[in-house]
Amino acid sequence: MAIPEDVLNEIRYRNDIETVISQYVTLNRRGKNLVGLCPFHGEKTPSFTVYPETSSFYCFGCGVGGDVFTFTGLIENLNYIESVKLLAEKSGISLPDNGYDDSMQRLKNRIYDINRETGRFYHEYLMSDAGAWARNYLLGRGLSLSTIKKFGLGAAPDSWDALINHLKAKGYSIDEMLTANVIAKSNRGSYYDRFRKRVMFPIINIRGNVVGFSGRAMPGEDKQGGKYVNTSDTPVYKKSINLFGINIAKNHCAERMILVEGNMDVISLHQAGFPNTVAPMGTAFTEEQASLLSRYTKEIILTMDADEAGQKAIKRAAGILEKTGLKVRVISIPNGKDPDEFIKKNGPDRFRALLDGAVSDIEYKLLMAAKGIDLDADDGKLKYLAAAAEIIAEQNDVMIRDIYIGRLCDKYGVSRTALNTKVEELRRKFVRVKEKKEIADIIRPKYNKDDVNPERRNSIKGTAAEESLIAVLLQHPDFCKWAVEKLPPENMITSLNRRIYEIIVKAVEEDRALDVSLFAQKLLPAELGLLVSLQNGNKAGQNPKRVLNDCINVILGEKQRLEMSRNTDASVEEWAKGLQNIIDKKQKGN
Ligand code: UTP
Ligand code: MN
Repeated sequence: MAIPEDVLNEIRYRNDIETVISQYVTLNRRGKNLVGLCPFHGEKTPSFTVYPETSSFYCFGCGVGGDVFTFTGLIENLNYIESVKLLAEKSGISLPDNGYDDSMQRLKNRIYDINRETGRFYHEYLMSDAGAWARNYLLGRGLSLSTIKKFGLGAAPDSWDALINHLKAKGYSIDEMLTANVIAKSNRGSYYDRFRKRVMFPIINIRGNVVGFSGRAMPGEDKQGGKYVNTSDTPVYKKSINLFGINIAKNHCAERMILVEGNMDVISLHQAGFPNTVAPMGTAFTEEQASLLSRYTKEIILTMDADEAGQKAIKRAAGILEKTGLKVRVISIPNGKDPDEFIKKNGPDRFRALLDGAVSDIEYKLLMAAKGIDLDADDGKLKYLAAAAEIIAEQNDVMIRDIYIGRLCDKYGVSRTALNTKVEELRRKFVRVKEKKEIADIIRPKYNKDDVNPERRNSIKGTAAEESLIAVLLQHPDFCKWAVEKLPPENMITSLNRRIYEIIVKAVEEDRALDVSLFAQKLLPAELGLLVSLQNGNKAGQNPKRVLNDCINVILGEKQRLEMSRNTDASVEEWAKGLQNIIDKKQKGN
């Protein structure tokens, strides 16, 4: 059910787009608009634009756009209705609880409920006599009862149907359980509990909802299904976005955040007094996670396992994190331990000392470059210095370059001029490549407009005319009636533009304002992006009616052409009739 227009307007009025987006993106004024680094894709040159005049945004880099609700939805991973609710809540407007729900939201709510109930079931089992095996395991790993409660830890009994029966009794259907991914269907068509005889870690999102689970097998029993089994993506859970521990860490991370590899590391560090710790859930670190972190903190300390896979993961994560503007430092934990093992053995103070001494990313890279090189041999030294020169050349701050050049010269007894020349030479090359890439980034948008409107390839000319027509109508809705008479919506060539045109026509008939929000519930973010770019493209010129007329002629002409070429077995007679039609229309138009 739709939310009434006046309610939407009130919420929009109290959440002006500039203020809302500024909470997530640093915006700089450029003319009457604002620009910043797009939070939805990695970029170094701002192509994310906010248009206060039309209360809309658009990214020239990735093509997303929309109104304040679309933005909130994308950044908080909510659907349209949910983001309206969130902004309503923030500005003290109350919406009826069930009045405007759509079916997707109802399904999501059911899954949240199932997850909460499942979490409770596992926790109660863990705390019961029957769950002693799991409780003792966790206590044996050094977790206190209060930590177990704080994280809502639990255990899945060694049973194929304990959870199914429990949820059935609570009124949930098999379909709902399957969608929540807490049960599975066998080849023979029967259903069974997905997690069995595992210690259960509920995954809780930033707003405090249980969105999924991670289940750890008992030591020696991880043959079946692996050591950890995690919830697959569901309507409420996307593993590439979530971070374990974020629901707590978000309140303790103004200055810095610690990124570790595993759930146990998170819990163990929280218990030891580092509640600013999070972990990705069994996946490689993603850009979405980086952009989430960049909204909460200034600096990330990476602590990944010291094995080769861990080193690779650090490199990757550091690259992604730096793109968002976060400061990155790296801790390497002695003896190849993970943070959980280290802290248990050496205590929180030693870990804090590691944190405070965490090497900067450049020091870490220099350390790594020395690996496997014999620094006592002359050719080893040269090889290392060449690699080091590259690492230093990547630093944008001349002071930092100077410091490290100085250090290396002292240590390896080479002349400052020599190393300096080498670094500056590499730097010029590096800067040239970087500039080229940045320019390419600007002129070649990363998204393909054809993806947004796949029918464009049938008639590039016709689609462009449709877009100009839409652009002009958005600025001059008073010409809409006139345009519809010459070009009824069914004559639009591409279905996307037909949909947009229909929305415009209907809104004008109902005397409603043509702002982005009108479209926001009916178009996808990329489609909305296209619309916002049209709206702000200013194509009307001095004589909008003239432009509209030209567009309509092109569209009708192209429509005919397409129909004729589609109709390959049309008779000559029909073909001539078609041609005459085009000629007539052209004459009428001019
Ligand atoms: P680790 O194997 O390092 O586990 O995997 P851990 O966190 O140290 O766990 P403990 O201390 O042995 O109990 C790191 C992370 O990788 C994911 C999990 O999120 C885990 O926390 N993982 C690991 C999986 O998703 N599946 C697996 O089979 C193994
Ligand atoms: Mn571990």
